[in-house]
Amino acid sequence: MMHKIPVGVLGASGYAGRELCGLVLAHPSLSLAFAAAGARGGERARVAGRDITFANSDAVDLGQAALVFSALPHGASAEYVARARAAGAKVVDLSADLRPGNANPAGAEGVPYGLTEVAREAVRAADVVANPGCYPTATLLALLPLLERKLVAPGGTISVSAASGVTGAGFTPRHDLLFGEVSEDFRAYGAGNVHRHLGEMRATLDAFAAEADLVFTPHLLPVARGILATITVPLVERVENPLALWEERFAREPFVEVTSELPTLKDVVRRNVVRVTAMHAQGTRRPTLVVIAAIDNLVKGAAGQAVQNANLMLGLDETAGLAA
Ligand SMILES: NC(=O)c1ccc[n+]([C@@H]2O[C@H](COP(=O)([O-])OP(=O)(O)OC[C@H]3O[C@@H](n4cnc5c(N)ncnc54)[C@H](OP(=O)(O)O)[C@@H]3O)[C@@H](O)[C@H]2O)c1
Repeated sequence: MMHKIPVGVLGASGYAGRELCGLVLAHPSLSLAFAAAGARGGERARVAGRDITFANSDAVDLGQAALVFSALPHGASAEYVARARAAGAKVVDLSADLRPGNANPAGAEGVPYGLTEVAREAVRAADVVANPGCYPTATLLALLPLLERKLVAPGGTISVSAASGVTGAGFTPRHDLLFGEVSEDFRAYGAGNVHRHLGEMRATLDAFAAEADLVFTPHLLPVARGILATITVPLVERVENPLALWEERFAREPFVEVTSELPTLKDVVRRNVVRVTAMHAQGTRRPTLVVIAAIDNLVKGAAGQAVQNANLMLGLDETAGLAA
C-alpha cells in the first residue's frame, strides 16, 4: 500500500474544518492524523460518509502530522500555528491571523499569502502559508489579469458587490442566520466599506502597485454555499477583447475557468474552481469592465485552496485530491 502523508485538522467541527476532513479522507496521498475541535472535542460526527471522533485541540499531539490545517477562528488560530510549528509540522492557516493587511501577531513575517495562482513558488518553499479569505479569493483572481498588466486606472474605484451563502458565517448559531430569517430574503451586511476582508484585498492591490480605491459590499444569499462577485473596474485604456486577457492569463491554470457565459453558483459548488467572465460596461464615460466570478466559499474559498497549497508544500501534484 502507498505510504500516505499524515495531516491534521484543527477546527474540524466547523464548516471549513469538516470540508477539509472530507478532502483529506478522499485524497490519494494524505491520511487524517487527527480531527480536533474546541468545545465539541470528544463528540462524534459523520463527515464525508465516515464516522469521526473529534479530538481535543489542547490534548492532541500536533507533531504526529507532517502538516496541520488550522481552521480556527481569527484570534484563536495564531497560537496554534506557533504550537504546530514548534512540534515540527508545516501549517496552512485558514484564519485571517497571518494574512497581509491585518494586525498580525509575531510570526507572520515572511508568511506567503497563499493565493496559489499568484504565489505558487513561495507556497512551495514555505513552512507556513496564510490561506486567503473566501471573498478575496474570488475578487483577486478575477482582477489578476488587470493587476498584472497595470490596466486598472490610477485614482479610480474598483467596486465589488458580492453575495455569499450562509456557511460563510461559520457554524456558531446566530439568530440573524436562522432559516426563517434568511430564506426568501436578500440583504447587504458590512456596508460602508468596513468588511474585515478589505485589508488583505488592499494589501494585494498595493503589492501590484494598483493605485485604485476598493469599495466592497458583501451580501447574504439564502443558500448554503457559494459566492458570486460582480466587479466593476475603471481602465487606463479601452481593451479590444477583454475576455482574451483572462483566457491568456489562466490558460494553464487547472482551477480557473474562463467563460463567455455568466458564471452561476451551480457551476462551482463543491468544486475547487473560480469561474470568471469579463465584458465591457456599455455607456460609461471612461473605459470600464464588468468582471463576474463565482466560487464555492468552502472549497476554492477555503478548504480546497488550502489543500492546493498543502499539496505544493508537501511536494505533491498541485491538483492531487482536487478533481476539478
Ligand atoms: N466558512 C467559510 O466559508 C470560510 C472561508 C474561508 C476561510 N474561513 C476561515 O476558516 C476559519 C474557520 O471558519 P468556519 O466558518 O469553519 O468557522 P466555524 O464553523 O465557526 O468553526 C470554528 C472551529 O474552530 C473551533 N474552535 C473555536 N474556538 C476554538 C478554540 N479557542 N480552540 C480550539 N478550537 C476552537 C470550533 O470548535 P467547537 O465548535 O468544537 O468549539 C470549530 O471547529 C475561520 O478563521 C474563517 O475565517 C472560513
